[in-house]
Amino acid sequence: MQAHTPIGSKVEHYDGIILGGGAAGLMCAARAGQRGLRVVVLEKAEKPGKKILISGGGRCNFTNVHTSPANFLSANPHFAKSALARYTPKDFLALVEKHGIEWHEKTLGQLFCDGRATQIVEMLLAECPDTVDVICGAEVSAVIKEGDSFAVSARGRHFAAPALVIATGGPSIPQMGATGYAYDLARQFGLKVVEPRPALVPFTLGGEDVLFRELSGVSAPVRAGTGKSKASFAEAALFTHKGLSGPAILQVSSYWRSGEEVAITFLPDASADWLIDLKRANPRATLRSALRDVLPDRLADALAERIGIEREFGNVPDKVLRAAAERLADWRFTPNGTEGFAKAEVTIGGISTAELSSRTMEAKNVRGLYAIGEAVDVTGWLGGYNFQWAWASGVAAGDSIAA
Ligand code: FDA
Repeated sequence: MQAHTPIGSKVEHYDGIILGGGAAGLMCAARAGQRGLRVVVLEKAEKPGKKILISGGGRCNFTNVHTSPANFLSANPHFAKSALARYTPKDFLALVEKHGIEWHEKTLGQLFCDGRATQIVEMLLAECPDTVDVICGAEVSAVIKEGDSFAVSARGRHFAAPALVIATGGPSIPQMGATGYAYDLARQFGLKVVEPRPALVPFTLGGEDVLFRELSGVSAPVRAGTGKSKASFAEAALFTHKGLSGPAILQVSSYWRSGEEVAITFLPDASADWLIDLKRANPRATLRSALRDVLPDRLADALAERIGIEREFGNVPDKVLRAAAERLADWRFTPNGTEGFAKAEVTIGGISTAELSSRTMEAKNVRGLYAIGEAVDVTGWLGGYNFQWAWASGVAAGDSIAA
């Protein structure tokens, strides 16, 4: 490893060094700075908060009013409770309003900026007092601990501090420069890492499930669930040329394990006997016409073809119609994979929560080392939960770093 404090070179001393100027790192810096601490944020990109800027289609779904620990996946589902309870969506919203940022609730408690996501980055930077330095274009590739102090070099400058915060995120979207650097660093200090996997990611389909691939561009409201997990999500599914996406599918992908089935309920609000009721009302109806009334035509045609009932309902026994309704309510398929980190909105897994204090995010066995945000094995549902975790864990660490 390269020496970080070469003899004779100037070392810049801070109370804390924050690696990564994303959502969690900037929030942590602001809070620590507001306590009068001198902190430096080292960000490898040319500007901070790049994922914030592209989030929510450029409008940043910055929190979710329904946030609770149940909306997060982790090897320890209790870990996130403390930080989430101490910094809530209301707290973040108060900050947004203090900065005069207009916002709206889109759906399911998801709060977005009316304007651009850049307002959130500007807000976080404005929250950083003069004691905070944010240095961009500063990729950190090595860190050492010398006694009670961490030493870091970046951009030809040398920094030292008694606190080091890992806020470099996860490897989702490597095209944006995302890497697993947080995990390398954690392992260097003896911290365990829960195997990282892509999450909130589209499924790919093969075999007979290519039926869905032919429907590229079609979207429909469904309920989707998977495997052993009890989680299921009633939102839209979107058929893509590779497989399936859309909010319901992205949510389920976080729970999915390779080889498991995914179950889709088309028409989640329909009763078990809806086709039989339709037969009574209109014996001349067909499955195709019935489905076309409630689903996009291409999807209706594909499902009717698969189920294979061509006759008018008046000539179809009730039990056949009931079986068709059951099939529509529990359509099973097995994805052959996902689109991977290239398309994953977040990473599941990461630095093991068993290694960290849930109150401060400090490593239990490495004094002064903290990990926050997506780098940690806490992953939220789609819908603003991941930012809420970034803010809450950033606050937990920022309020705890000791001078
Ligand atoms: P984040 O990835 O934001 O920041 C890490 C920072 O560290 C980066 O700026 C990176 O450049 C820097 N870095 C990495 N390695 C480094 C090194 N070696 N040296 C120095 N710096 C380094 N969530 C949500 O709640 N609502 C939403 O609307 C969206 N939308 C969304 C859209 C898309 C396309 C993606 C990919 C993701 C989302 N998310 C989201 C998820 C959300 O963006 C994510 O959970 C947070 O950005 C995580 O914040 P962190 O600060 O932990 O990591």
